[in-house]
Amino acid sequence: MRRRESAKILRRLRPPAKEPGQLRQALDGIRLLGWRKSVQIAQSTVAHAYLDWRYAPPTPDWNHPGTAPGRMLAREDCPDGFIARFEHAELEVRCLGPDLVRVTWRPGLDPVPYAIGRHDWAPTTSEAELSVELSEDGGLAFRSGDGRLLRRDLPPVRHGEGWRHRAHLHADERVHGLGERALPFDLRGHTVEMWNRGPGGRYVPGVDPLYICIPVYVGVHDEGSYLVFYENPHRAHFSFKDELDARFDGGALRYYVIPGPVSRAVERFSDLTGKPFLPPRWALGYHQSRWGYGSAQEVRELVAGFERYELPLDAVELDIEYMDQYRDFTIDEEDFPDMAGLSADLEAKGVRLVMIVDAAVQEKRGYRVYDEGATEQRFCTLPNGRTMRGVVWPGWAVFPDFTDAGTRQWWGDQYRALLDAGAAGFWHDMNEPTTFSLSGEDWPPEGTCHAMEGRGGSHVEARNLYGLLMARAAYEGLRRLHPERRPWLFSRSGWAGLQRYAWAWTGDTVSTWPMLRQTVTTILGLSLSGIGFAGPDIGGYHGDPSPELYVRWFELATFLPLFRTHCSHDDPPREPWAAAKGLIDAVRVHMGLRRRLMPYLYTVAWQASQTGAPPVRPLFWEDEQDARLASVDDAFFLGDHLLIAPVLDEGARARTVALPNGWWYRLDGNEPLEGGRDVEVAAPVDHTPVFVRAGAVIPMDEDGDLTLHVYGTPARGVLYQDAGDGYGPWRVDHFRVSGDDRAHLETTSDGDFSSAALQTRLHRQ
Ligand code: GLC
Repeated sequence: MRRRESAKILRRLRPPAKEPGQLRQALDGIRLLGWRKSVQIAQSTVAHAYLDWRYAPPTPDWNHPGTAPGRMLAREDCPDGFIARFEHAELEVRCLGPDLVRVTWRPGLDPVPYAIGRHDWAPTTSEAELSVELSEDGGLAFRSGDGRLLRRDLPPVRHGEGWRHRAHLHADERVHGLGERALPFDLRGHTVEMWNRGPGGRYVPGVDPLYICIPVYVGVHDEGSYLVFYENPHRAHFSFKDELDARFDGGALRYYVIPGPVSRAVERFSDLTGKPFLPPRWALGYHQSRWGYGSAQEVRELVAGFERYELPLDAVELDIEYMDQYRDFTIDEEDFPDMAGLSADLEAKGVRLVMIVDAAVQEKRGYRVYDEGATEQRFCTLPNGRTMRGVVWPGWAVFPDFTDAGTRQWWGDQYRALLDAGAAGFWHDMNEPTTFSLSGEDWPPEGTCHAMEGRGGSHVEARNLYGLLMARAAYEGLRRLHPERRPWLFSRSGWAGLQRYAWAWTGDTVSTWPMLRQTVTTILGLSLSGIGFAGPDIGGYHGDPSPELYVRWFELATFLPLFRTHCSHDDPPREPWAAAKGLIDAVRVHMGLRRRLMPYLYTVAWQASQTGAPPVRPLFWEDEQDARLASVDDAFFLGDHLLIAPVLDEGARARTVALPNGWWYRLDGNEPLEGGRDVEVAAPVDHTPVFVRAGAVIPMDEDGDLTLHVYGTPARGVLYQDAGDGYGPWRVDHFRVSGDDRAHLETTSDGDFSSAALQTRLHRQ
């Protein structure tokens, strides 16, 4: 190898300067993994640098002026849009609906439609809700039905295999979404990367990118609002300064524009990318997890602890320690000699077992999953024909190519082993995928080959899809293996459409107050990106939260879909009684509240599965032109009727809440409060301010009695019920309450699920 070439490889090995914690993390890694695996990581790092030097697809030269479309040569109208030919590019515009336009600039390969949940769009030319104007140079303007300018795109510019796309931003335009971000709620002024990755052990606010990057955002400004989704999974960079500047490393430039309001646009986006699945009811309960629960005995003691403290428990998550040598779909028979017996005992107490599955498969002859996968050529390869390898928990490992339908089917079938052992749900991890590295480049070589359903593609295109397609493989496998049960899994990584197969969690955060605050913002951003079901590690993944911090985190998660405590292996015990210490009553109060709210929460989950509306919504959801609500990032709506104002500051015993217009009640109060102003409310350490919209009926579970709480009259509400799992009978009740002194309840019902719990008690606030 020539000197210059080895210098280039060495340069690739140097840790990026912007990540100063890297050395500390590398040392932690050696301590954790031992010398043998650390040496493997060093070898893998060098191999990666070589493979990138040899095979990485060229990155576009963004400093080069690039090629604009040039002069328009022809324009051809078709029933649902038009095609325009330019000197250097071709533009296709299709209306999938009166409010949903798809734009495609070529050259560049069209995306494999992994994100798309619906393909049967009736042709439409209607411009009633969104009109598109094309200018001679290839610029596009999108206007609302009444002529307001929602968005103006500049002609895109081709750079090598990549596209650069710029759009004007209104002076006051706010930007939200882009998947999972540890950044402020409004991303105006920020630059973000689209490259799913684990932040290497832990992250703090400001770190970017994270595990779930999705090129979708909503723009809100004085003339209106819109949602734009770039259906291009290639590595990309977006910056939102005076204008949007988006740069994709490859592929056709395809994007969809949907006019606001945001609430409608987000629902419409779910028509395109699919509705979230309805989870089994138990998944909305409380989950206890820790990296380190290492034996059946320990799990039994854990469950006994919950009984002793009289705390409800719905699920226990088993991290990688349940596996035999960190091999997927195996069980350590020594520490878990009878996993099926353990899970049956737990299930009898109402506790489900959830098992982790990592993306990496140990490379070891004699390990069935590896042998089968190798024989059937299920693993990603390199351009030199070899299998791509990396180092993860089990040491040298290989990675299934989920962009191949046969591999997804094969992988989905593997879950049988864990279902037989009693797993009720699954947890997908390290599925960006992550491969350990000393250089900070903890991903497979960029030239890694993916099937992309037969048409082929590199990791630069497939990486952001990897977690999504692993979730799809599992979800479809679970449907086949247990058709009578609703699958449930949650995933660290994903892309647009993940909601069809998995929930998400916010990964390896630090245990600090700023991170608690960040959690709200991150989850709101996920909601606006189509991922409505998510939650954090309560207390933060890494660290030793004070009892107060743990409790406030617990209180926040009480009102989020995923309600789970989890932490790293070297952190102090994180069982609620150990972490909350003297504040355990606050935990108890909130667990009770979650139980009481279960009928409402389950209904919200069902509504999400029907409409796509995320359970957790920003306060501007119903009034996006109310400047007071525009930037609120410390409170949120849960479903249609509840406003949650978690306490996010150390020592705070009161907080200010920006109440939207209208009248509001405290959850257990009966004095209506006028909204449209900021109110100061008490928030002692065992209390989270929760407000209910006047005119709401909230179904609650009061010690086993289904009780309708009515907040003023007239009032309305909905209740969804079924057996809690499966695809059997269901029932939806719509309630209307009228009358002042004597409330009159009118119920209309659909569906034929009948339940003893339907004895209704009316409680007037
Ligand atoms: C990753 C996960 C974390 C898990 C650990 C061990 O860091 O994000 O939740 O505990 O791996 O499996």
